[in-house]
Amino acid sequence: MKKQAILAAALAAVMVTAAGCGSGNNGGGNTGGNSGGDSGGGKQPKVGVAIYKFDDTFMTGVRNAMTAAAKDKADLDIVDSQNAQPTQNEKIDLFISKKYKAIAVNPVDRTAAGVIIDKAKGANIPVVFLNREPVAEDMNKWDKVYYVGAKAEESGTLSGQIIADYWKANPKADKNGDGVLQYVMLQGEPGHQDAELRTKYSIQAIEDAGIKVEKLEQDTAMWDRVKGQDKMQTWLAARGDKIEAVLANNDDMALGAIEALKAGGYFKDDKFMPVVGVDATAPAIQALQDGTLLGTVLNDAKNQGGATVALAAALANGETPTKENTGYDITDGKYVWIAYKKITKENVAEAQQ
Ligand code: GAL
Ligand code: CA
Repeated sequence: MKKQAILAAALAAVMVTAAGCGSGNNGGGNTGGNSGGDSGGGKQPKVGVAIYKFDDTFMTGVRNAMTAAAKDKADLDIVDSQNAQPTQNEKIDLFISKKYKAIAVNPVDRTAAGVIIDKAKGANIPVVFLNREPVAEDMNKWDKVYYVGAKAEESGTLSGQIIADYWKANPKADKNGDGVLQYVMLQGEPGHQDAELRTKYSIQAIEDAGIKVEKLEQDTAMWDRVKGQDKMQTWLAARGDKIEAVLANNDDMALGAIEALKAGGYFKDDKFMPVVGVDATAPAIQALQDGTLLGTVLNDAKNQGGATVALAAALANGETPTKENTGYDITDGKYVWIAYKKITKENVAEAQQ
C-alpha cells in the first residue's frame, strides 16, 4: 500500500464521518422544523428539549405546542429520551457540548433532576423542567432552574367531582343499591406526582361530596391505553357488574378501559359505566361526544408547551423570566402553574385547543 493512498482513504473516511455528524443529530428524532444553519446563522437562540418519550399522547401535544410557540422565539432541538434516564442524560450532555443557550427537560425519572441540574449548572446553562416535577430540594439547587406544570391535586379533585355529580344525578348508578360507590382505579406511572395525587384527590372529592366509596381494584397501567384495556378486561372478568365507576389517571387508560367495557357489552342498550380520565386529548373528546367517556380534565398542553418555550427563550437571552417577558405568572421565583379545567359533554368546545 502506498502511503498516499492510505492517507487519501483516511481523509475520505474523516470527511464522511464529519458530514454524517453534521446532519445526523444522533438519530434521536429531531423535530427538524427550524433553519438548522450552523452556529453562526441563526438569530434565534438554540434550546435543547429532552422529552421522556415521544410515544406518549399528551406529551406529543405538548411537543407540538412547543414547536408552534418557538417559531419566533427559539431554535428548538427536540429529542426523544425513549423512556430511559441514561439515554436522556446522554442527550443532555450533547446539548451541553453543543453550547445551547437553555435546556428544557421532561425527566424520565423525576428524581434524576438533581444530576441534570448539576450538569447544567457546571456549564451555566439554565434549565426548565416540565410535566414531571423535581422535588423541592433539587429545585433549590440553583437559581436558574424552573418548572412548568399543573397542580396534580386539582386534576384529581375535578375528575372526582365529575363522578360525584353523576352519582347524585343517577340513583341507578348504585347498581347493587348498597349506598356505596364501588370503583376501580387505573393509575399512571408509580412515583409520578400526577399518578399519586390524582388517585388520592379524586377519591377525596367523591368522599367530600358525601358519598361512601369502596375500592375494588387499583393498579398501574403506566399511562398506556393497551395496558389500561388489559387491566380492565381482567377486572371485569373478576368483578363484573360489581364495578360502578372507573377512574383513570389519564385519558389513554380511560379509553383502553372503554374498549374492554365495549367488549363486555357496555355502552349498548341500557348498560352504562361512568368512566373519567384526565388530559382532554383529541380521542378522549371524541369519546365524550360518542357518549362513552363521562368526563375528563383539560391538561393544557398548549399553555404548558408555550410557557416552557417562553421561559427557556427568556433564559437563553440572558434574561430572568418575568410576567412581562414570558406572559406567565412566575410563582416563588421558579414555578409556572397552568390551570386544569373540568370537561364534560356540555362544555366540550372549551377543550378543543
Ligand atoms: C401527565 C399526563 C399523562 C402523561 C404524563 C407523562 O400529566 O396526564 O397522560 O402524559 O403526564 O408524564
Ligand atoms: Ca354500590
